[in-house]
Amino acid sequence: MLLAFLSALFFFVQAVIAASRTSPPSGALVVRAGTTTSGEFSSVQSAVNSLPNDGSARSIFIYPGTYTEKVYITRLGSLTIYGYTADTSTYTQNQATITYSDGADTAGSNDASGTLRIHTDNFKMYNVNVKNTRTGVQALALSQYGNRVGFYGCSFYGYQDTLYANKETQVYLKGFIEGKTDFIYGNDGQAYFGGNTIAVRGAGYITASGRNSNDSASYVFNANTVIQASDAESGTSGGYYLGRPWSPYAKVIFKNTVLNVAPNQALWSLWNGDSASVSHTLFADYNTTGPGANGLTRAGFATVLNATQADTYSISSAVGSDYASWVDTSYLV
Ligand SMILES: *[C@@H]1O[C@H](CO)[C@@H](O)[C@H](O)[C@H]1NC(C)=O
Ligand SMILES: *[C@@H]1O[C@H](CO)[C@@H](O)[C@H](O)[C@H]1NC(C)=O
Ligand SMILES: *[C@@H]1O[C@H](CO)[C@@H](O)[C@H](O)[C@H]1NC(C)=O
Repeated sequence: MLLAFLSALFFFVQAVIAASRTSPPSGALVVRAGTTTSGEFSSVQSAVNSLPNDGSARSIFIYPGTYTEKVYITRLGSLTIYGYTADTSTYTQNQATITYSDGADTAGSNDASGTLRIHTDNFKMYNVNVKNTRTGVQALALSQYGNRVGFYGCSFYGYQDTLYANKETQVYLKGFIEGKTDFIYGNDGQAYFGGNTIAVRGAGYITASGRNSNDSASYVFNANTVIQASDAESGTSGGYYLGRPWSPYAKVIFKNTVLNVAPNQALWSLWNGDSASVSHTLFADYNTTGPGANGLTRAGFATVLNATQADTYSISSAVGSDYASWVDTSYLV
């Protein structure tokens, strides 16, 4: 009886006292805005560049501030970046922001426009905001090419093509993703999105899967909440879609989604009105609820899954059944 009480008290206290991260984990390099002390770095890229390219596991801690730079990570070896936060379990208390404004037109490619570019495997990032403030052109906050990559409590802000989940296996957990046009997209990414807030800025498309053959790529979303962004254009409500097919094998599954803002009632769109664009497409949803889910009609090429079918789409189907060997499962919902 006493034990049961103490155990209940323990879980209650754990739930109430959020875990903060306000100082560098042991061994981490330190990035600090403003005045640095000896051994610290004033930019994220300079800290990354100081690391040996030797396959070792390293970490970086970022103090509060806005870091105006592009960060390109290619080093061999696992790297974890931690941002300062009062609550590691959510993106809402993040205080470290990496921001830049660049588009594919000036950078030379979609990838090159990215504020944060991950071209290495076994990368993790916790509680950092990443922004690309350019609008009207492809302008990535994140360009992701690495295998076994995880983002936990991170925010990604952009307008068109915010999050390029382009290659290999990756997870996005308890974070925030904002944009208008095709703002979660890529060709071969095997990606799982769990417990995120997705903020829509206009009458566009959350996803644009560019899967171009019957391969293992897919985007599986579970338990995410869609909201209207604070700076949303008029026409957002009733105007946006869950996705459109950038390539005809597009494969996107939204499970247990809460729609706090209404989409277009068709839920999914063709690519520029082309009916051939969905010839091999799987666009599916399951248990879509919330005030925005009333009156959905769904396009003819859309699939509504039943519970048994929905069970076959999961973090395992998206990134592989060995996910627990590299994903921080404490962020799964
Ligand atoms: C795609 O591949 C899967 C698994 O290999 C197979 O079960 C399915 O029938 C294939 N679908 C098409 C349209 O070729
Ligand atoms: C449906 O989704 C909501 C929101 O994610 C969740 O709370 C609820 O448990 C889900 N219901 C089923 C039957 O999975
Ligand atoms: C779910 O759908 C599949 C495919 O149409 C069907 O075979 C199965 O019986 C359905 N399961 C339930 C529980 O409705």
